[in-house]
Amino acid sequence: MSLKARLDEDRASEGRADRGSVTHWRRRLLEEINLEDLTRLTMAQRRVRLEKVVGHILTREGPVLSERERSMLIRRVVDEALGLGVLEPLLADETITEIMVNGPDNIFIERDGRMRRVDATFNGEDQLYQTIDRIVSLVNRRVDESSPMVDARLPTGERVNVIIPPLSLSGPILTIRRFPKPYPIEELIRMGSLDPATGILLAAMVRARFNIVVSGGTGTGKTTFLNAMSAFVPATERIVTIEDSAELQLMQEHVVRLESRPANIEGRGEIAIRDLVRNALRMRPDRIIVGEVRGSETIDMLQAMNTGHDGSLVTVHANSAEDAIHRLQSLATMGEGHVPYDAVRDQINNAVDAIVHLGRWPDGSRRVDEIAVVSSRRREQFRLDSVLRFDALPIGPNRAVEGKFRHFPLPRHVAGRIHHVGETIPAVFGVVASEPPGTTPHPRP
Ligand SMILES: Nc1ncnc2c1ncn2[C@@H]1O[C@H](COP(=O)(O)OP(=O)(O)O)[C@@H](O)[C@H]1O
Ligand SMILES: [Mg+2]
Repeated sequence: MSLKARLDEDRASEGRADRGSVTHWRRRLLEEINLEDLTRLTMAQRRVRLEKVVGHILTREGPVLSERERSMLIRRVVDEALGLGVLEPLLADETITEIMVNGPDNIFIERDGRMRRVDATFNGEDQLYQTIDRIVSLVNRRVDESSPMVDARLPTGERVNVIIPPLSLSGPILTIRRFPKPYPIEELIRMGSLDPATGILLAAMVRARFNIVVSGGTGTGKTTFLNAMSAFVPATERIVTIEDSAELQLMQEHVVRLESRPANIEGRGEIAIRDLVRNALRMRPDRIIVGEVRGSETIDMLQAMNTGHDGSLVTVHANSAEDAIHRLQSLATMGEGHVPYDAVRDQINNAVDAIVHLGRWPDGSRRVDEIAVVSSRRREQFRLDSVLRFDALPIGPNRAVEGKFRHFPLPRHVAGRIHHVGETIPAVFGVVASEPPGTTPHPRP
């Protein structure tokens, strides 16, 4: 059946409020299950868990059924929730981090940061549309000509984006992004994403309540790095995390997780990151962690950082540390307020203490490319001082990226804050000997 026909039928059956329908029980199932628990299970375990939950719901609320009818209904409900055909084995493979479907015949995956095509295909466009339909109806969304782009999430937490013709000229496109697996900082160090001394410095900065921005392009590991750094937040503090789709997996006990909500089909009910940042301020947080700033929430985040919630962490999409600070400025001037540029610069100079910029290399490795601290004050033009840079060597025949981290002395205002809370600075960094006011101690290369 075509997507459109299915959508029409769905609508009709919703109208009848048919309590016997698979759609109804699937919806009840999605209301009951804890998506988070599910992500920790294998595909087989997920099926068992879901069957159990549907069984409970049917016992409580369902019609009287024979044993056989009952197990068939359970099966169909779970199939509807999980059945993703050729995608299932790919989803079950933990080493795959991204699944990209470009029309029914082209499926690509990313593994170890490298992309390759897989042999699996859909049995034609109809089947692909059916799968897409299944995925988006899980989150009560629809894909059709009038809303040809949808973000959704699988019950197992993976993030899905769908875009169909006429916007896509390559047929229906499905992009599934797996939850980044949490890497402790030690593991990132082992993988060469940063060196041990830098790990120690960042830990000291987090404990000294620096406001830190993690920047980088898509898939450079920003969320992963934020997650790793969050481990340095003392367990005695109350953390509120705010995300578009909850990916962070903090270690601490005292964490409140908030997730924004897109508008429904009628275009109502949106709760933006910005609303959540404002709400978070009334929740007595010690630290606020925003998964990513992309728009008008930036100004609220800066204000939060400036009003007693220092030690906050956030990521932003940017091409360099320098670019990140300018992007924050343009993002913060977006939105209804139209805050003047130099007022925003004042806010940023006050709020942001350090920028950790991440890069992704052709061999799939991700690394800290630069760490810069903000040395400008008030309404001055932005001035960043690098304290770390990765220098790559020319790529050799084995295609592996090698190079070394170069450390630079910390400006005194930065070192002072770290010493003040009793933390030590690794010797490879050191501290700028003397710093006449208003000069940059070591200009950025
Ligand atoms: N330092 C790293 N080394 C190798 N892989 C990484 C590293 N950091 C992240 N990854 C992987 O890269 C992918 C993208 O990571 P993510 O943190 O979601 O990036 P971003 O938030 O920048 O889009 C994930 O699959 C993640 O597991
Ligand atoms: Mg991210």
